[in-house]
Amino acid sequence: MKDLPVVDVDIAQEELDAVTDVVKSKFLIEGKNARAFEKKFGKFTGSKYVTTVTNGTCALHLALTALDIGPGDEVITTPFTFVASSNSILFNGAIPIFVDVDLNSFNIDPAKIEAAITPNTKAIMPVHIFGNPCDMKAIKDIADAHKLHIIEDCAQAHDARIDNQHTGIFGDIGCFSFYGTKNLVGGEGGALICQDEDLFDKILSFKNHGRSPTGGYSHFKVGYNYRTTDMSAAIMNVQMDRAEEILQRRHRNGNLYRELLSDHPNLIVQKILPDAQASDYIMAPVLKDTEKTPNDVINYLKSQNISSRTIYSTLSYEQPCYKNIRDWIMARVVDYPNYSKVKCPNAEYIARNHFEIPMVSSLTDENIRFIVDSLEKFFK
Ligand SMILES: Cc1ncc(COP(=O)(O)O)c(C=O)c1O
Repeated sequence: MKDLPVVDVDIAQEELDAVTDVVKSKFLIEGKNARAFEKKFGKFTGSKYVTTVTNGTCALHLALTALDIGPGDEVITTPFTFVASSNSILFNGAIPIFVDVDLNSFNIDPAKIEAAITPNTKAIMPVHIFGNPCDMKAIKDIADAHKLHIIEDCAQAHDARIDNQHTGIFGDIGCFSFYGTKNLVGGEGGALICQDEDLFDKILSFKNHGRSPTGGYSHFKVGYNYRTTDMSAAIMNVQMDRAEEILQRRHRNGNLYRELLSDHPNLIVQKILPDAQASDYIMAPVLKDTEKTPNDVINYLKSQNISSRTIYSTLSYEQPCYKNIRDWIMARVVDYPNYSKVKCPNAEYIARNHFEIPMVSSLTDENIRFIVDSLEKFFK
């Protein structure tokens, strides 16, 4: 049997043709493909305003800047994520405050947020990890009560919805990645959604060197270049046309895994909120009640031609750059906490005990059943 991969990007002739058209047109800079993508992504997410950006990290940084979050401000987030989530907070000299995750959802535990709020807290950054929607109702209630902004990290959450509302809609700003391994791709690529016109104008200006929407060489704010290219936008635009075809299979895979593995005695599979839909980006069960380690499972699965790996086995606050936060340039002006002292026991348990199994859209039901059977054999 051929190897079953954990990454297999769904690219068709349409994407190739679209990129070729851009190159032939000689109009390589962000243009008509970006505008076409934005319209489609707005419809897909139900968002009033959408802009493309260079990548998901830029989207997060832009969101924090547009919300005026700067040196010494605190932003509550989770450590079980890609390091870009909290790094974007560091970029502006703000301080990531790590709150533990829930052992069932792997997402930030809303019950633990309030204890982390101080007079310096400005925002909450929930991360819909592996595409599992966070409890946005509970998070929004807390944010409203304490007048905090919400920046949703939706990098992994294309088509992740709660009560039929797309993630990214609940907060002030939703930030998406179209990195080349995501559910929908652009190579490098990102998008930012928001529902407030004034905030959106700020985002557009900061994205484009602080210009006015009409462009030119007057710069009203110190901004960035977080524009994309029309080659990336062309791929993203075609991916939107093919989104249903690409995502349907992922949802089928996710549902089948949950049906077959949810009550497994040795595995915790991410629990999805009632009335929510996951993006089904990553399936990463966590080992429980067993002496086995992720490496044991990964090696066994590999012997069956099934790709498997750990992802965030080092939490963000455990990364060397957080342990040595005094080396970060902003530590010259900001008093950062000692991240070596942070403890998030659930996140640490998940980090040490998870392993990823294939979820990609090229898999069949038969492939998923084979993977589940292989896990059964492993635990026997
Ligand atoms: C949870 C999360 N946040 C942020 C990012 C950053 O996105 P990008 O790689 O497009 O900069 C990623 C992904 O790669 C991610 O997985």
